[in-house]
Amino acid sequence: MSKLIVVVGSCMVDFISNVERLPKAGETVLGKEFKRSWGGKGANQCVAAAKLGASTTLIASLGLDIFGDEYFQALKSFNIDTKYIKLRKNISSGIAQIIVDDNGDNKIVIVPGANTLLSPADVDEAEDAVKKAAVLLAQFETSLKTTLRALELHKGHGISIVNGAPALANPDLNVLKNCDIFCVNETEAEVMSGIEPLTLKNTQEALNKFFKLGCNTVIITLGAEGAVFASRDNPKMVHVPVEKVKPVDTTGAGDAFLGALAYFIAYHPSLTLKEQIRRACHVAKESVLKAATQASFPMKEELSKELFL
Ligand code: RIB
Ligand code: NA
Repeated sequence: MSKLIVVVGSCMVDFISNVERLPKAGETVLGKEFKRSWGGKGANQCVAAAKLGASTTLIASLGLDIFGDEYFQALKSFNIDTKYIKLRKNISSGIAQIIVDDNGDNKIVIVPGANTLLSPADVDEAEDAVKKAAVLLAQFETSLKTTLRALELHKGHGISIVNGAPALANPDLNVLKNCDIFCVNETEAEVMSGIEPLTLKNTQEALNKFFKLGCNTVIITLGAEGAVFASRDNPKMVHVPVEKVKPVDTTGAGDAFLGALAYFIAYHPSLTLKEQIRRACHVAKESVLKAATQASFPMKEELSKELFL
């Protein structure tokens, strides 16, 4: 059985400023440090899986600008199959402006640029890879039409996971219906379910709302509280806690979780979903102890061997 993980998703160039506290509207605050790094939820999730040793293919779209080629090479250096990454003329690569405060919390503005050009035709070109995927993974940072095409092609060939990030109040419900696992964090769950504030006490209500929208299995990640999940056939919420740590930078923690989840589903298919989620939470927890996104995702060698038994 193939263990390939195929990600259909975004690449962004992250411009990260570290500040003591986030600015209020109209306010200027003095930053402490600036870094540029490679990001975008699609690429981040693909890198997270690749760093655990997964064989991965990324279907994505970059601009043919000063960042595109460098980013392309960076993805190659992680052994990601870059055959289906397009470098597009006359449009900038996607960029993200990220502010991280001393609590490790962040605010992000993205300008998707070339990501908007990722089309169903690009997915068609990658049909062989999509049909080979043990796990197909997509997010809300690229066109949902493109994601739908990938879900259609992948049907009957493995497990599909859609990460509803960033939040969309009214996404195309066909995407929710056609993926096996739909995963959001607490803020995204609030936006989509209208249940706010979301706490461990009312997440069951949010899960029920997602089932009404057509979802099959739903995972809601809850930061320091770990994650909860349930499925249409087994709707009672199961909580998967995670060890509490003092975060340095939570940017990309969700991506570390999703990439790791894809990895454990593809490479350890006999584990229960609960155990796969527990192990993915552990990988995400490791990532918040370090600054930045892809650079903070752990390599397999850095993790305890028990995670891979
Ligand atoms: O999830 C984190 C990512 O969101 C960042 O890398 C940034 O690019 C935004 O897309
Ligand atoms: Na991090």
